[in-house]
Amino acid sequence: MTKRVAILISGGGSNMVALARSMQTDHPARPVLVLSNDPAAGGLAKAQDMDIPTLAIDHKPFGKDRAGFEAALHKALEAAQPDIICLAGFMRILTPDFTARWEGRMLNIHPSLLPKYKGLHTHARALAAGDPEHGCTVHEVTAALDDGPILGQARMKVTPEDTEESLAARLLPLEHRLYPAVLQRFAAGDRTPVML
Ligand code: GAR
Repeated sequence: MTKRVAILISGGGSNMVALARSMQTDHPARPVLVLSNDPAAGGLAKAQDMDIPTLAIDHKPFGKDRAGFEAALHKALEAAQPDIICLAGFMRILTPDFTARWEGRMLNIHPSLLPKYKGLHTHARALAAGDPEHGCTVHEVTAALDDGPILGQARMKVTPEDTEESLAARLLPLEHRLYPAVLQRFAAGDRTPVML
């Protein structure tokens, strides 16, 4: 049975596009929904161009009511019936209640070599630490932020010329290779880590 994949975004959605493109070929999964917490996210138009159903659930009207936002998110996801949820630049922290409901079925890509640099500003932190290498990680989402079993990592060397911006720009194409490779394995029931 082809697995149904929902992709959650907040911005430009380049990882979402990489995932969606990868599913256009012989693949155990297909995209059924691209959902953004930001109605202005550039990725929504890109998904529409690829004929993927889209939905925006703006988190702002919910204010501090995180449970209310997540209830709306959950309702939309249940309607789409995904087997797998891919967080792809989705910049909202999810509560343990939400992550528990989808545990084992929800993946995230994070721009660091986890367990290093959970949270924000990963490129600046790698530079400040003088790390000789940097990278990205795809992992299963659990209650703890940017934690959970690692399903894949891609590494690259840091050069003396690198800036926060150059690291981000050089890492993105690696993210676009890693995430589809992990999703393809995961959708086939294989959790063996992909190492690039
Ligand atoms: C990516 O670099 C992704 O790793 C990062 O946001 C960017 C989204 O770009 N995610 C996080 O920082 C999650 N904590 P995209 O919208 O072009 O895919």
